[in-house]
Amino acid sequence: MTMVRPRRVGARIAGRAHDLCATVGGPAGGAEVEPAAVRVVASTDPARLDEVVAEVELGGPETILAAAVAARSAAREWAAVPAPVRGSVIGSFGRLVADNADALARLVTREVGKPAAEARGEVQEIIDTCEFFRGEGRRLYGQTVPSEMPDRELFTFREPLGVMMVITAGNFPVAVPSWYLVPALLAGNTVVWKPAEYAAACAQAMLDLLTAAGVPAGAVNLVPADGRATSLGLERALAAGAVDKVGFTGSTEVGRVIGALCGRHLQSPCLELGGKNPMVVAPDADLDAAVSAAVFGGFGTAGQRCTSLGTAIVHESVHAAFVRRLDAAVSAAVIGDPTGDVLYGPLLDARFAAGFERHLTLLRDHHRLSGSTALGRITGATAGSAQPPGPGGLPRNGPRRGFVGDPDRGLYYHPLIVDGVRPDDELFREETFGPIVGVTTYRDLDEAIELANLPGYGLSSSIYTADAASALRFRRGVRAGMVSVNGSTTGAEAHLPFGGNGRSGNGSRQSGVWMLDQVTRWQSLSWDYSGRLQRAQLDTVVPAADLSFRLPR
Ligand code: UN1
Repeated sequence: MTMVRPRRVGARIAGRAHDLCATVGGPAGGAEVEPAAVRVVASTDPARLDEVVAEVELGGPETILAAAVAARSAAREWAAVPAPVRGSVIGSFGRLVADNADALARLVTREVGKPAAEARGEVQEIIDTCEFFRGEGRRLYGQTVPSEMPDRELFTFREPLGVMMVITAGNFPVAVPSWYLVPALLAGNTVVWKPAEYAAACAQAMLDLLTAAGVPAGAVNLVPADGRATSLGLERALAAGAVDKVGFTGSTEVGRVIGALCGRHLQSPCLELGGKNPMVVAPDADLDAAVSAAVFGGFGTAGQRCTSLGTAIVHESVHAAFVRRLDAAVSAAVIGDPTGDVLYGPLLDARFAAGFERHLTLLRDHHRLSGSTALGRITGATAGSAQPPGPGGLPRNGPRRGFVGDPDRGLYYHPLIVDGVRPDDELFREETFGPIVGVTTYRDLDEAIELANLPGYGLSSSIYTADAASALRFRRGVRAGMVSVNGSTTGAEAHLPFGGNGRSGNGSRQSGVWMLDQVTRWQSLSWDYSGRLQRAQLDTVVPAADLSFRLPR
């Protein structure tokens, strides 16, 4: 066994470890707040539960408030740095991420169990994001607007918001945070980042890279904290006027709480929540391509992307063939140690494993299960054999053929295809966040669209078809923020608007130019040089028109 000494991760406020940071000045030169760590938890390697990656000092509500106050103190100075210069800092960050890509990807694999190739892709997503926003530092365009008055010019400017609090999940422990941090900093905001506790070492690595790139102390502050401390701390920071915007990626349930909290302070957060993402397989679909997309979209990242495939909605004429091929592909897939070449590794952390176990209780007698020889935990060869059968006659827990690595050391779960899900099944309606894909059938495209929309989420969606009219009708009918034709529900490119509707979010969009509306606020300027008061609407001179005029017939 390789023993690597766990690193210690704690709040970093204004460039200092929290215990060195005894007091921080209040927002208006007022109250002083004392941040304090409340407890230490271990962030473990989910593929080797006996290995601790980091000891994480969780801050309390006051730590979050202190970080927000520090971010507020740094805001004016950072906003005064010219945008092209901030763009250069983002460019340096992107270069540093590229030059440290292997180490960062290895840390992602170690801390959250993401397979090596996917972890490398996740790091690439940061580099892509930096590439895009570096150039935005030289644009960040405002507009010139014609005035209805003579001798007057109108303009618009993008202004930073101030302090952005970023709260992220651990399934994309470095890429998704970069979707907030990079544009927020580029636009001249300062940031408080509360990462997932089980991905705190990844967060610290990101902070180290940002600092090395030249982001000044105080412009980005890190506070590991649990959910309760985060919501209390955010409440206090909002009440103190120390946070101007919240960005949150996580569950719909927590998104509702954050949305309500922000609403009380007249703020609209950027919410990127769960999904129950549908993939429609039309009668004319290339079935092998559709099966590949279902395998990658449903089981890649162990089904733990917010864009993961929830239900395949398959035309009844190709349903049997689709399920047969999907079963063959999933049964043959290599699962196991994420440092190797596997479809997926362990679940992120014990909480996610417990959540997935709960979703397995939603299996019903009318469900037909395939994709595995057992249900639940993947175990070593002997442990599985003694288990009584679970739903669908599959044994509960047990070994998996072709598994790579030591199953008993990690949080590994069997993949599961659940055919015959019905619209009133909870399994059809709720996000499952694990290696499970439902399958149902449809007769005509309207029914497929209705089924796709039924769970009320609206993040990602896909249709496999060779018919342009079906693709376009699906695009128009589906209430998803993202639509893919002949592609997976997962794997959006880093410069397209990313976000959802309904239970998936409040309509905010991340990535590309669309994110600028989340991290800036428009300011208009009206500049009159006529030398007198010109009153809009009242003094506007429009030539009189003869509206009774008609051309000769
Ligand atoms: C997430 O799961 O929160 O489109 C983000 C995708 C990735 C991002 C997923 N680029 O699947």
